[in-house]
Amino acid sequence: MIYILMHKTIPVVEMELDDTSCVVIQIYDVINPEHLPIGVANKNHVIDKVALTSWWRRRAIPASRDGLRQALEEMGIALPEILLEKCWGLSLSDQYWICPKNSDLRWEDVNFFDNPFSEDVGNILLGYASSSESLSLVSPDNSSDGWLKKKWSIIDGKRCLLKSGGHSFLQEPYNEVIAASIMERLQIPHVEYSVTEHKQKPYSVCEDFITADTDLISAQHLMEAKKKPNHLTKYQHFVDCCESVGLTGVTDFLDRLLTVDFLIANEDRHFNNFGVIRNAETLEFIGMAPIYDNGTSLWYNTPAHLIKPLSPSIPSKPFKDTHGEQISLVHSFDWLNISALDGIADEYYDLLSASQYIDAVRRDTLCDALDRRVELLREIQNRA
Ligand SMILES: Nc1ncnc2c1ncn2[C@@H]1O[C@H](COP(=O)(O)OP(=O)(O)OP(=O)(O)O)[C@@H](O)[C@H]1O
Ligand SMILES: [Mg+2]
Repeated sequence: MIYILMHKTIPVVEMELDDTSCVVIQIYDVINPEHLPIGVANKNHVIDKVALTSWWRRRAIPASRDGLRQALEEMGIALPEILLEKCWGLSLSDQYWICPKNSDLRWEDVNFFDNPFSEDVGNILLGYASSSESLSLVSPDNSSDGWLKKKWSIIDGKRCLLKSGGHSFLQEPYNEVIAASIMERLQIPHVEYSVTEHKQKPYSVCEDFITADTDLISAQHLMEAKKKPNHLTKYQHFVDCCESVGLTGVTDFLDRLLTVDFLIANEDRHFNNFGVIRNAETLEFIGMAPIYDNGTSLWYNTPAHLIKPLSPSIPSKPFKDTHGEQISLVHSFDWLNISALDGIADEYYDLLSASQYIDAVRRDTLCDALDRRVELLREIQNRA
């Protein structure tokens, strides 16, 4: 099928997608190369088809998504990329989509920021069988990333992402809330999360921080736009990539990100779990995205008796393998008002008390462990 890859209302590339493999098999025209997705190179109007295919496929739900196989079976869909085509690749995290050639589809009529959408796909992805006879497969969930079960929902007119926990303790939603509270206390721009229950399971809820005018670009994509020179660390490469698109204050941002991750012992800050925001029309880079996806932290899957909050070898990402090493990348703690965290463990205690999956022993252990992380950070700050 022949499509125009669109960026909001701007045609970017005319291309052909293979119906069964979803590979870009032909590029016919490069219309507005400056609007190509970041990281898809364009040399003299020649685009790397492999890179465009890879970008397109990475828009689909990842194969690692919890429960994906069963969900696809229920929908009668062979591949996540086929599901992606059903919503023209539209997303609630940026403005790219594909318009069938010669169709009269308009972005104004199909985008999910302004138009309502069915929750059929979202409910199936969460593992709830669909009750409706005829499923609507036009959903922003078809293009959502990450391995945890999740769905987009319109709550009081706002686009919100509901995300489940992934392990037997279902702790991640509560972690999102306490991490947001830590960042609120430390005055770090972040995404606000709350917890809601559905069928006796907790879900975190956060509002979409992208609007119909902006794109979220992950650190991963931004860093793929430039080849990393061998002598540069990934840290420096990320800083360089941000600065080359006009962003400033990157080191200050990373100081805060790495410090929060140290505090909460975050194990999953990979390069798709932070990023930057760009204006989709002017292509101007606006700033770092507020910090999101902090749930894979606070010993979310570790049995209580194995929790070692002071261990220097707690696994970390994305720059070093352990938090003990990664915290040394912070340039300055001058901004850190550690006393703003007084009482944070009590707040965590109250939050966890609502969980049916976390018993009193685990709750006490987690709160004590968080307290110890705060004290450890205080010592590190005093030594710096
Ligand atoms: N509030 C939001 N507004 C816009 N886009 C968002 C928001 N929250 C998440 N996203 C997008 O959805 C993706 C998946 O969300 P998130 O990272 O929270 O899920 P996850 O399943 O925990 O991911 P992971 O596999 O990294 O654990 C993010 O990488 C980001 O692109
Ligand atoms: Mg994520």
